[in-house]
Amino acid sequence: MNNSIGLSFLMRLSAMLLKVSWSLNFSIHAAVILLLCFNLKGPYLLGSAALIINGNETDQQALLHFKAKITGDQLGIMRSRNNSVHFCQWHGVKCGRRHQRVTKLDLRTLKLMGSISPYIGNLSFLRVLTLQNNSFSLELPQEISRLHRLEELTLDKNFIRGEIPSNISGCSKLKRLYIGDNLLVGEIPAALGRLSNLKELGLSNNTLRGSIPSFLANLSSLESIYLPLNRITGVIPEALGRLKDLTTFSGRE
Ligand SMILES: *[C@@H]1O[C@H](CO)[C@@H](O)[C@H](O)[C@H]1NC(C)=O
Ligand SMILES: *[C@@H]1O[C@H](CO)[C@@H](O)[C@H](O)[C@H]1NC(C)=O
Ligand SMILES: *[C@@H]1O[C@H](CO)[C@@H](O)[C@H](O)[C@H]1NC(C)=O
Ligand SMILES: *[C@@H]1O[C@H](CO)[C@@H](O)[C@H](O)[C@H]1NC(C)=O
Ligand SMILES: *[C@@H]1O[C@H](CO)[C@@H](O)[C@H](O)[C@H]1NC(C)=O
Repeated sequence: MNNSIGLSFLMRLSAMLLKVSWSLNFSIHAAVILLLCFNLKGPYLLGSAALIINGNETDQQALLHFKAKITGDQLGIMRSRNNSVHFCQWHGVKCGRRHQRVTKLDLRTLKLMGSISPYIGNLSFLRVLTLQNNSFSLELPQEISRLHRLEELTLDKNFIRGEIPSNISGCSKLKRLYIGDNLLVGEIPAALGRLSNLKELGLSNNTLRGSIPSFLANLSSLESIYLPLNRITGVIPEALGRLKDLTTFSGRE
């Protein structure tokens, strides 16, 4: 961008950015800051504004990629996912009212088979992901860590293998994490100790090993911990006594 930008173009752009900002529930303040940035780095911001507008299409792509990894669908749930129906109306999908971004994906108990696509990490407005009681296998993709708004992740009763992604700490808003009744191995990653909003942690009936980590005591909001039916050994760390909201601790079978 250079001096050839006319004032009217800038005004139109302001109006556009304001609209974008409003639709994303930003404040006018944020829009003003965006405009200031624009003056400094025009093309860069123009690029990111376009990305913001097309965020809904990113979500659509992510859902289509998610569907592509479903290999078994006895109940035909995924058949409704076609271009003649908006993705916000697809089975199990909930979108925000203002902007059409996916906030919830609830596909529990639908006899789905397959794996979880790494594209799931692109649903950046997702707050709730519920896939419990299906037959999802393979590993939980690392990309899950990109879901910075995720509050609930429920994956119990599947066949998820591998380790708990070490960078799951990227889901810093997580309040409920349930991955019980799967095939997880390895230790409980230290990154869990950074999920400062975590209230409920369910990891029972996997093949996790190691000791009960004392870093769980850093999670001051913890209310319940379920760990039985693993290969976890040792004593309950004394530090857990600090957790004043902890009402349920289930460590052994
Ligand atoms: C995404 O949003 C743009 C701009 O609001 C709109 O034109 C487009 O139809 C939307 N696409 C989908 C799939 O919702
Ligand atoms: C798309 O899904 C809707 C709802 O399930 C269905 O009625 C329609 O026949 C489908 N269209 C195509 C082209 O598959
Ligand atoms: C899990 O799914 C099976 C069918 O696949 C169903 O029979 C069972 O009731 C479900 N269990 C729960 C706890 O929802
Ligand atoms: C979405 O995620 C995939 C895989 O994680 C990535 O390759 C792709 O570039 C991402 N972005 C968009 C806009 O789809
Ligand atoms: C998560 O961590 C792995 C390595 O442990 C890395 O390869 C991957 O890029 C990270 N993913 C994200 C989304 O940060």
